[in-house]
Amino acid sequence: MVRVGVVGYGTMGRVHSQALQAIPEAQLVVVADADPERRAQAQRDYGVDTVSSIEELLRAEDIDLVDICTPTYLHESHFAEAIKAGKHIFCEKPLARTLEEGQRMLELSSGYDKKIGIGHVVRFMPAYESIRKAVLDGEIGGAAVARTFRGGAKFPQGWHDWFADFDLSGGVILDLTIHDIDYLRWLFGDVERVYAKTTHGRTTAHLEWAFILLRFKNGVMAHVEGSWANYPGEFYTTLEIAGEGGMVSYDSRKTQPIHGVSIDGGPVAVNGSSSVSADSPYYLELKDMVDAILEDRPPRVTVEDALATLKVTLAAVESARTGQVVEL
Ligand SMILES: NC(=O)c1ccc[n+]([C@@H]2O[C@H](COP(=O)([O-])OP(=O)(O)OC[C@H]3O[C@@H](n4cnc5c(N)ncnc54)[C@H](O)[C@@H]3O)[C@@H](O)[C@H]2O)c1
Repeated sequence: MVRVGVVGYGTMGRVHSQALQAIPEAQLVVVADADPERRAQAQRDYGVDTVSSIEELLRAEDIDLVDICTPTYLHESHFAEAIKAGKHIFCEKPLARTLEEGQRMLELSSGYDKKIGIGHVVRFMPAYESIRKAVLDGEIGGAAVARTFRGGAKFPQGWHDWFADFDLSGGVILDLTIHDIDYLRWLFGDVERVYAKTTHGRTTAHLEWAFILLRFKNGVMAHVEGSWANYPGEFYTTLEIAGEGGMVSYDSRKTQPIHGVSIDGGPVAVNGSSSVSADSPYYLELKDMVDAILEDRPPRVTVEDALATLKVTLAAVESARTGQVVEL
């Protein structure tokens, strides 16, 4: 049994706690949150012990895995505390707010004999996983162009509105489009050039929109768009990948979300195209983490991998700030 302590019982702390209930090999034993109302909520939801800080959590409980769900700017310090205590760690994306923080986290974790996984959850979304497999299996021939969208009208409701403070959250690029940047890196490998635009600084912090152009070393071009400024309506995501022999697409608003067509009009085989697995990707990523501990293997997303994604994403933030292309 893997005994888990969740740090931060906001949006993601609640999602993780719920996902952990469905994992037979995991047990949520304690929740740490700085806010007394959130602690009371965790107590009501799961009857678990609650404490007010990670230090207290690490002192008080015999836990195996620390699950860090605090705001991005706190990841490095909470990660360092968990390492000092010798725990396995799962940390929400982005790895850190800055590249320097991320690099220090990689240094701290090198040679560490416990497992560390980072919550790049799109890698666990069954539709995205099936499309990746189809592309890698050559179903659309050599991939050439990709386009992604992720967003909605609702600005994230964070603790003390921390998402609206660019210095704390990194805005829509670091918080939201990082999901697609990570997925595209997982599929296409290294990125060599980045160019980005954002409304950051031109409108209120609660209405941010961004687009990013990526050129991968393998020649693929990608257009990544993220929005906290959409028309009223549901949050949704789309993905399109065109290759020499056809294209595949995904649209989370559709009942048949995956579509594939070859250049001659025939179908493209994507497993799972008729139905998308009902398993929550948050359950799947935490199950992978728990299994990694029990099977003594690395989790799907390592610190090194998450740092590479952070580097590309912060290059986009930099490009949007300066108006210049960033070469990696
Ligand atoms: N993977 C995803 O789909 C996804 C979605 C949303 C957010 N996130 C990421 O998850 C992280 C958390 O985001 P969120 O939306 O849950 O934020 P949130 O503001 O909803 O929750 C943060 C929680 O941390 C608590 N907290 C603050 N400081 C603390 C401290 N020092 N010690 C203990 N608790 C403290 C707050 O009281 C709050 O309950 C962020 O890094 C965010 O980027 C990931």
